Amino acid sequence: MIRKLSTDRLRVGMYVHALVGSWMNHPFWRTRFLIRSETEIAKILDAGIEDVYIDISKGLDDQESRGVEEARREIESEIVAGVAVPEPEVPTIARRVSVAEELATARRIHGQAQQAIRGMMSEVRLGRAISVDMVEPAVEAITGSLARNSSALLGMLGIKNKDDYTFQHSVSVGTLLMAFGRTLGLPEDELREIGLGGMLHDVGKMKVPDAVLNKPGRLTDEEYAVIKRHPVDGHAILVETRGVGEVPLEITLHHHERFNGRGYPDGLSGESISRFSRMAAIVDVYDAITADRCYHKAMLATEALRRMWEWSANDFDRSLLQAFMKCIGIYPVGTVVRLESGVIGVVVEQNEESVLTPKVKAVFHSKSLRQLPPSVIDLARSGDKIASTESPERWPVDVVSHLTVA
Ligand SMILES: [Fe+2]
Repeated sequence: MIRKLSTDRLRVGMYVHALVGSWMNHPFWRTRFLIRSETEIAKILDAGIEDVYIDISKGLDDQESRGVEEARREIESEIVAGVAVPEPEVPTIARRVSVAEELATARRIHGQAQQAIRGMMSEVRLGRAISVDMVEPAVEAITGSLARNSSALLGMLGIKNKDDYTFQHSVSVGTLLMAFGRTLGLPEDELREIGLGGMLHDVGKMKVPDAVLNKPGRLTDEEYAVIKRHPVDGHAILVETRGVGEVPLEITLHHHERFNGRGYPDGLSGESISRFSRMAAIVDVYDAITADRCYHKAMLATEALRRMWEWSANDFDRSLLQAFMKCIGIYPVGTVVRLESGVIGVVVEQNEESVLTPKVKAVFHSKSLRQLPPSVIDLARSGDKIASTESPERWPVDVVSHLTVA
């Protein structure tokens, strides 16, 4: 049973179910935990959180008559007696770090998440049952990385390998949905649910024969009809999968619905499509058109967002698309830009104050046509400005190496 409580009434022994307010504004990346010490209460108060939800079925009730000291002693003695093992869900401060500090971790998390999805999908291909435990640790790790510095992991999403599209796309959609949800201020439990939904949304594609799924060139009407079954097939798989909640089920079933009602499988329109599925539709299309596929070249992030904005009168929820554009930024990490001075560089870090002045690693000069010794230009402090975004193929710039070498 959940009850809202003002933070100053928190006591040791209460179980925090959620912290009220946008989790971007506080330092905890776990919001469900048993309060075991006054220090934990002090951390919550210090973070400026005014209200919390407590779960009185898991901890003390605020109206309970027993003394606080008694509750604390009870918890301590349970721990000592080994009755209650301290839960791992102690609030962990998600210390903000720089992109450079987070990159190596983000790269590992990105790789592991892809492995997890690959493993899960191959079980589906073999017709075996899957479990949510196969991907939940990846969602957890992504949550932590986004909280420490979202630019690092979001930058990783641009590094794609043509062969593994379905796995990469699943990880990208999960990660982008979580980042998007954070900018909308969704509570942490919903962020995890949409992250899981994003990771699982295309699981039904494992029922599509490989020859159709990865066919270069145009699909026949029959083949397209087979592809279009994947939301319903995916939903059916996940209904049978223990531990999958309503949100991932909904995202899987309805991520191809379109705002104008021309999507599938149910032809829903407008707000009869859930907000989570409207978000998933945006993220799904954005990731698909920014990836190189056998039948099209990748579009630059800015171009993709511009095109989606043009299409959006029909396809997407415009207010959500606007929020997504804000989340991605005008110059996402990994974008190759040309500065007014002629310097070609790679965006390595966003500036939280202004989307127009990220940090750029200078690597080449477009006028002298020479490589530059890599150095980071902070456009917030430099007189230089971004003149244009550039296709990475136009210049001898290895985006990956400049992203991953701090
Ligand atoms: Fe899909």
